[in-house]
Amino acid sequence: MDRNYWEKIALNYNDEIFDVFQNDKTGIIRSAIREYSSPQQTVIDIGCAVGKWIPFLSTHFKKVMATDISAKNIELAKKQCGDFTNVGYLRADMSDPKLKIAASDFAICINAILTGSLAKRNIFFKSLSKCVKKGGHLVLVVPSLESAFYTSIIRNRWNIDKPDHLKRYSSKEAANKLRNIEQGNVEIDGFATKHYLQEELTLLLALEKFKVTKIQKVEYSWTTEFVHPPKWLKNPYPWDWMCVATRI
Ligand SMILES: C[S@@+](CC[C@H](N)C(=O)[O-])C[C@H]1O[C@@H](n2cnc3c(N)ncnc32)[C@H](O)[C@@H]1O
Repeated sequence: MDRNYWEKIALNYNDEIFDVFQNDKTGIIRSAIREYSSPQQTVIDIGCAVGKWIPFLSTHFKKVMATDISAKNIELAKKQCGDFTNVGYLRADMSDPKLKIAASDFAICINAILTGSLAKRNIFFKSLSKCVKKGGHLVLVVPSLESAFYTSIIRNRWNIDKPDHLKRYSSKEAANKLRNIEQGNVEIDGFATKHYLQEELTLLLALEKFKVTKIQKVEYSWTTEFVHPPKWLKNPYPWDWMCVATRI
């Protein structure tokens, strides 16, 4: 999942990419943002894509900096959010060790640290602390590895959609899958996509000078995982992790 991948996806962004803003039915992420919002403060949207969160951020903060690695996404965001005049746009790669960026009072980073590359993720996490002023706050949303395993166990136990045990892999594919799963990379549409454990998140953020104050599930419907979820399949629902952290 490098820059090329995101530039290509931009053409069909709404069809290809899961919309967290729309699917956060209980509004847990919006509540967390509201808790820290202030018309005197600045916010940065890290990995803003086509700008789903920009209108909400624009009405809750003095100034929004919308950043993304993809120039096409930034263009689309600019076009779609043209009515919001307190928004600046910046194409920036958070996995660039030389990144220079002005720190904001508050940051959101919603399902953007997905790369299967450990080296790129390490720099991305370091960039998070460059983006937030000391004493400022971060709302980070990432895919949950616990949820991915839970979904996979349910799929295989009740033969939902296409169970994994019906798939056949060559030894090379199997070795690749094992290497990926050992570091929390789950394949989505053929791409190794990083998923995180709750404890792992606290550790990764602590290493980059963030104190986690809250970790909660952002729950979604089972139709986000299965084409035909059984009617009896209810709580617990599949989820992402949302972390709220303070930059120390
Ligand atoms: C799944 S989309 C999430 C978009 C948005 N945060 C939302 O919730 O609607 C992930 C976004 O992260 C961006 N991204 C991925 N790697 C990045 C990097 N290294 N630096 C900046 N943005 C990145 C991608 O271009 C893409 O737009």
